Amino acid sequence: MNEALFDHVAAHYDSWYDTELGSLSDQTERNLAQSMFKAPGPKVLEIGCGTGQYTSWLVQEGYEVTAVDISGEMMALAQKKIALLEGSTSKADCVHWWHADITKILDQLETYDGIFSMTAFEFVPEPENVLKKLFSQLNPGGCLMIGVIAGMSAWSEYYAEAARKKPTSVFKRAALYTQEEIRSWQIGVSAEIGECLFFPPNVQTKSEALSLEAKREGNPGFVVAKWVKR
Ligand SMILES: C[S@@+](CC[C@H](N)C(=O)[O-])C[C@H]1O[C@@H](n2cnc3c(N)ncnc32)[C@H](O)[C@@H]1O
Repeated sequence: MNEALFDHVAAHYDSWYDTELGSLSDQTERNLAQSMFKAPGPKVLEIGCGTGQYTSWLVQEGYEVTAVDISGEMMALAQKKIALLEGSTSKADCVHWWHADITKILDQLETYDGIFSMTAFEFVPEPENVLKKLFSQLNPGGCLMIGVIAGMSAWSEYYAEAARKKPTSVFKRAALYTQEEIRSWQIGVSAEIGECLFFPPNVQTKSEALSLEAKREGNPGFVVAKWVKR
């Protein structure tokens, strides 16, 4: 059922990044996630690659990526994006595409140096169990990292409102967790947590957003959690 969920939004998904709010929030989340993710070797599993917003960054960082997504429509757009990267033939060779529900392939996974996922675990049932299994697939020193919209925040309210207004919104099916809930998950080691999006979705100007982001007051709208295998 999750497949249909994102298939019908795939064509318009990237238009969010063309809006002022979308571009600003993306840049804020990206700065945090990209600064926190460090895999000690080349093999990276990306879960919920979507249209390839982060697949292209992972490839450009030199990782060999296995990109998983339950939505064929989203993945097709990611494939196009990677094909358009400079030096595309060799870059495209760095990605192994796996059209699948992550919860259904946990027993088929290899071992990885890094496991990366942005804004997908909101849609994955029983995230603690799935993450625990993923953590067990890390090589020594490996890094498991997820970024998610934080529960109990101005942004979770924004998406809840979107879901109330539009019955077909993907956020009708999202579960949003607070960082305290994520910290309580028993994955194998303690989580390292990063926070961002301290400006609300109804912020008026970019300069106001940047000033609120610098102050870091109130509940963050986005949380990145990282577990590193010793
Ligand atoms: C909000 S999009 C995020 C896409 C991309 N990571 C990004 O940051 O732009 C969530 C993606 O997770 C995928 N997804 C949701 N549940 C999944 C599951 N159980 N297994 C694999 N992919 C899943 C969706 O199909 C969708 O492409």
